[in-house]
Amino acid sequence: MKKDLLSIYELEASDFEKIFAKAGRLKKALKTGRPHASLKGKTLGMIFDKSSTRTRISFEVGMYQLGGIALFLNSRDTQIGRGEIIADSARMMSRYLDAIMIRTYAQASVEEFAKYATIPVINGLTDLLHPCQILSDLFTIIEKKGSYEGLKVAYIGDGNNIANSWIEAAARLPFQLAIACPDGYDPDARIMARGMKESKLGIELYRDPMEAAANADIIYTDVWASMGQENEQESRKKVFKNFQVNRKIVKNANKDVIVMHCLPAHRGEEITADVIDGPHSVVIDEAENRLHVQKAILEILL
Ligand code: CP
Ligand code: NVA
Repeated sequence: MKKDLLSIYELEASDFEKIFAKAGRLKKALKTGRPHASLKGKTLGMIFDKSSTRTRISFEVGMYQLGGIALFLNSRDTQIGRGEIIADSARMMSRYLDAIMIRTYAQASVEEFAKYATIPVINGLTDLLHPCQILSDLFTIIEKKGSYEGLKVAYIGDGNNIANSWIEAAARLPFQLAIACPDGYDPDARIMARGMKESKLGIELYRDPMEAAANADIIYTDVWASMGQENEQESRKKVFKNFQVNRKIVKNANKDVIVMHCLPAHRGEEITADVIDGPHSVVIDEAENRLHVQKAILEILL
């Protein structure tokens, strides 16, 4: 694996295998009480420009369980929030820390940080991508379905960071990806074009979520308005109203379809309560797996 984890696209087949195998072993070790303090004395810095529940908790608890510690660095309370430049922050923090996780707006900021940092940098979500999430999702699919190979993932909703990372995964791994989003809310054009060219089993774009859901093994959705788009929340409710994962959509998929959501969820908007709390939903297991997969990523990078 490279020094940093900035996107799924930059991972090789062997990297995926390594991450999933390690995550499985770490999950088992944790459940059976076996010690696995492989990162004793190591420190992870976590820079947050945006809110987080799962990413923060899973990285922080993960470091603790591996014998290290994590520092929560809210950018508002550090000099970064007062304009200290990325290059200085990255070079200087590399002298204190062993790895850095960043959640911010621009993908370019994470990339710049990684350029100047001499320690591993992990993308904990940008406006463009959310690689740690989709790696955990793929691990969850392996657990639930045995493998992702040959399966169909239907992503219904906004063409956002989650959708973009799914496209990058489909460019690297052999599963089928169907995306349904409203006109004007497509995934990133460059990522989409590259994904369509390089995908192993195909990526399709639909305007009708029922079509995308047909024969799906996995139905996935995410919020209609992401962090940073709060002022579009109301207008997006109108645009996205037909892109809701509800009983009708689930019925159109395969009988044993699993329903996934990166969380946080808005019941009654992108997904109905009966579906997210129903028998097809795996969202809580999916959230738990953030912990195991992130521990695997940390072990590999460190
Ligand atoms: N799915 C996810 O990244 O959740 P948080 O925003 O709570 O970290
Ligand atoms: N698309 C969402 C994902 C949250 C985990 C956001 O960026 O807010």
